Amino acid sequence: MLLKSCCIYSIGIFSILILIAGISLVLSNVFPNFLHSMVKKEMVLKNDTEAFRVWENPPPPVYMQFYFFNLTNPLEVMDGDRPAVVEIGPYTYREYRPMEQVNFLDNGTKVAAVNTKTYIFQPNMSRGPESDLIRTVNIPAMTVMERFKDQPFMANLISAYMRSSDEGLFTTRTAGELLWGYEDALLKALKVLQPDLDDVFGLFYKANATNDGNYVFFTGQQNYKDFARVDTWNGERSVNWWTTDECNMINGTNGASFHPVINKNETLYMFSSDLCRSLYALYEEDVSVKGIPGYRFVPPSKVFANLTVNPDNAGFCVPAGNCLGSGLLNVSGCKQGAPIIMSSPHFYQADEKYVQDIFGMKPNKEQHQTTIDINPLTGIVLQAAKRLQVNVYVEQIPTFSQTGNVRTVVFPVLYLNESVVIDDESVKKLQVVVAEANIVVNIPFMLIGLGILLGGVFMLLMCRQKVPESTAAERQPLLRS
Ligand SMILES: *[C@@H]1O[C@H](CO)[C@@H](O)[C@H](O)[C@H]1NC(C)=O
Ligand SMILES: *[C@@H]1O[C@H](CO)[C@@H](O)[C@H](O)[C@H]1NC(C)=O
Ligand SMILES: *[C@@H]1O[C@H](CO)[C@@H](O)[C@H](O)[C@H]1NC(C)=O
Ligand SMILES: *[C@@H]1O[C@H](CO)[C@@H](O)[C@H](O)[C@H]1NC(C)=O
Ligand SMILES: *[C@@H]1O[C@H](CO)[C@@H](O)[C@H](O)[C@H]1NC(C)=O
Ligand SMILES: *[C@@H]1O[C@H](CO)[C@@H](O)[C@H](O)[C@H]1NC(C)=O
Ligand SMILES: *[C@@H]1O[C@H](CO)[C@@H](O)[C@H](O)[C@H]1NC(C)=O
Ligand SMILES: *[C@@H]1O[C@H](CO)[C@@H](O)[C@H](O)[C@H]1NC(C)=O
Repeated sequence: MLLKSCCIYSIGIFSILILIAGISLVLSNVFPNFLHSMVKKEMVLKNDTEAFRVWENPPPPVYMQFYFFNLTNPLEVMDGDRPAVVEIGPYTYREYRPMEQVNFLDNGTKVAAVNTKTYIFQPNMSRGPESDLIRTVNIPAMTVMERFKDQPFMANLISAYMRSSDEGLFTTRTAGELLWGYEDALLKALKVLQPDLDDVFGLFYKANATNDGNYVFFTGQQNYKDFARVDTWNGERSVNWWTTDECNMINGTNGASFHPVINKNETLYMFSSDLCRSLYALYEEDVSVKGIPGYRFVPPSKVFANLTVNPDNAGFCVPAGNCLGSGLLNVSGCKQGAPIIMSSPHFYQADEKYVQDIFGMKPNKEQHQTTIDINPLTGIVLQAAKRLQVNVYVEQIPTFSQTGNVRTVVFPVLYLNESVVIDDESVKKLQVVVAEANIVVNIPFMLIGLGILLGGVFMLLMCRQKVPESTAAERQPLLRS
């Protein structure tokens, strides 16, 4: 009898202890903090660590896909009609982007490297060979005409040369030539006057098997938030350029966040050399990539908005005060003066005017937005797609008859989708981490549950226990008082 009630009371005490332990673990955040510090410890670039191997040679395949716009009505456009285009693509390249010439600096707090990108054509993932013909704007000619439009003597000379060699506002070239370069007759002729001029033109000319300069990254040894952040680029200190394959920069407060690395109110910065600037992305929704939970970040429409909506974009009104509408960036300044305007594919999120100006534009969020999906627990990029369109500013230039009666348009040449999806091997590793994290984080709640369960058992046993008469009689006065 004594043994039995002793046992029952132990259950009661035990349930209370477990409850207290569970609740204090929840309140003190021990397990999430423990996870946090585990992740932090992993996020450092050191020789022979997993994070370093992944950074040096990212395992998931990166694909660069190009979609061209083939012009169908050049003669009508010369007479002032709306251009009509047909989207042609994809032309897919596997992008290899290892870090090379890796060199640790400053006691392992920084690491220097170059990022060499190589593009290998993937016929099986492409609609046709690189030799497919595309009719589009003659970009070298448009550039030269813009450049000399206010110099009548030169304009006359160039115009005469163009007439004699039958060069016009539009040209038909292969996809491969437009991307990787071709010798342009007009540039070659001008080279006689200007020997330092490069007579090869291509939108990605010299981009293959080359690096874009010397980077110095933080290793994250001092602060995990600096993991893989760019310190300097070609010797210049860079603010806001964090990149692990152009993807992620983590900024914001981590405070009392449940998730160790990323939370929903953080801002991701991406550096894009195509745009000559850094962009940022904000949380949009929860997603799942190959079964792994993620947060989707997208650039807010404000990034490309016109001045009324986002005064920060004043820097892209060049010359000062000369602003294009929403959704367009004039990057002429960083493309050797070529009249190149960047936008989202099909002018997604741009001023409706630009969509209307070209027959064949069908902007659509799903296909044309830039997205980055990140696993919040680890900060690992699950999936990303950078989507950008290259356009040329076309206008009538009185000194060049080659421009005919063309109307002023932002003419789409191609758009690209540079995308990556986490590889299956990394998914398996992440699944284990996510499952472990779920268990670890839930241990305090399991303890509380167990405490409540045992408490219930205790009460049940107490009620069912027969109370001896004598004891009951003794207790009565106590109860009354
Ligand atoms: C990493 O360590 C190996 C051998 O321990 C060495 O050969 C290699 O140069 C080191 N790499 C760097 C980038 O320091
Ligand atoms: C590297 O560490 C040594 C010894 O800890 C220290 O004397 C030196 O100043 C450090 N160098 C740098 C660049 O931090
Ligand atoms: C890029 O360079 C590599 C190696 O130099 C070559 O194999 C590949 O065909 C090139 N890609 C393009 C698109 O020219
Ligand atoms: C693009 O248009 C030109 C001119 O109409 C045509 O010759 C060419 O075959 C088209 N390209 C493709 C890939 O369909
Ligand atoms: C991080 O964001 C804060 C404001 O939220 C900003 O002041 C700070 O400059 C940002 N840090 C970097 C490196 O961009
Ligand atoms: C800027 O964009 C907003 C919203 O799209 C529009 O209402 C406004 O008229 C635009 N302003 C200019 C100057 O284009
Ligand atoms: C784009 O910027 C250049 C200067 O970088 C300027 O000359 C040109 O007029 C601008 N184009 C448009 C369409 O505003
Ligand atoms: C890239 O984007 C294009 C356009 O939205 C889409 O058709 C294509 O499937 C995407 N490619 C990948 C690999 O996701």
